[in-house]
Amino acid sequence: DKGNHRHFMLKEIYEQPVVVAQTLRSYVRRIDDQVSLPIPDFDLSAIRRVTIVACGTSFYAGMVAKYWFEQFARMPVDLDVASEFRYRAPVMEPEGGLALFISQSGETADTLAALRHARAEGQKIAVVVNVPTSSMAREADLLLPSHAGPEIGVASTKAFTCQLAVLAALVANVARAKGRLTPEEEKDIVRHLSEAPSAINQALAQDEAVQALAPLIVPARDVLYLGRGTDYPLALEGALKLKEISYIHAEGYAAGEMKHGPIALIDEAVPVIVIAPSGPLFEKTVSNMQEVQARGGKVVLISDEDGIAAAGEGCLATLALPKVHPLIAPMVYAVPVQLLAYHVAVIKGTDVDQPRNLAKSVTVE
Ligand code: F6R
Repeated sequence: DKGNHRHFMLKEIYEQPVVVAQTLRSYVRRIDDQVSLPIPDFDLSAIRRVTIVACGTSFYAGMVAKYWFEQFARMPVDLDVASEFRYRAPVMEPEGGLALFISQSGETADTLAALRHARAEGQKIAVVVNVPTSSMAREADLLLPSHAGPEIGVASTKAFTCQLAVLAALVANVARAKGRLTPEEEKDIVRHLSEAPSAINQALAQDEAVQALAPLIVPARDVLYLGRGTDYPLALEGALKLKEISYIHAEGYAAGEMKHGPIALIDEAVPVIVIAPSGPLFEKTVSNMQEVQARGGKVVLISDEDGIAAAGEGCLATLALPKVHPLIAPMVYAVPVQLLAYHVAVIKGTDVDQPRNLAKSVTVE
């Protein structure tokens, strides 16, 4: 049932504040301001290295988690797409090795095969999965459910933000187990995580602005998305959403990689979506953005009010999001890129919920 919405995708985008809150209830305790896991006796302090494996949008959630594990838990992380991982010869030490698989369906063939491969290599298996009865859920040592509810739209939206919520809590749990989180810092993280649903709501309030911008993107043949840090996986996710439902060619790039090739593509006809919240990486990304503008590129800047005040001039459009903690920012910044892909696709008249050539669950290689 799509409710009042024209498509499941839009309904699922709008469900995000509720389902993220629902997911977080299993991972944070407001009574004592602690993060927790559904399986409390799993020994996180023994983990020495994390190997993250997934496909598509779930892979981008894993990429965000890699940055978080490094920053907040000082944990070394390997990351790969499942179809590559299973045919490489990845080196995994059994001692202290945690392999983390992320999947909405829990049935993706490559991810499931990678899970079995990691198990054979002596890894403990953690799974972030949205379907609790799935194969991956059954094969996990540490089952970490995302409570997004059934996702019908083929393009993943609410499953992604719920995966991010689980991963943020997992990183905080590992950081605590590793002695890298004071009770004060933990309390602070719990408070920020609890504010995620309302921040996502504020991001949804940009829907009209995104809708107004969409007609300017529709004529494009190519679109670039740029970001740094955890905004790099969001750039990749934005590009994936746009191509899969609107069939416009799009690429996500690490902002600093622009000058190593893709800048040659820039002219007035190539919109560039820049994802850059204010913060330590802001100036760097803005200078990449200015290189684009100097070549006639049309920029859409997604930032917060401070970022837009500092660098919004000369942009085709700006979208202002709330200023939030780095552990919740990707959940908030996901919203405008989802909405942009959605509105562009609607104008183009594509089958938004059932894009051509795609299946919701990829159970063959
Ligand atoms: C993109 C999308 C796909 C899936 C990928 C993995 O919108 O939906 O890229 O993310 O097929 O699927 P799961 O998460 O079920 O393993």
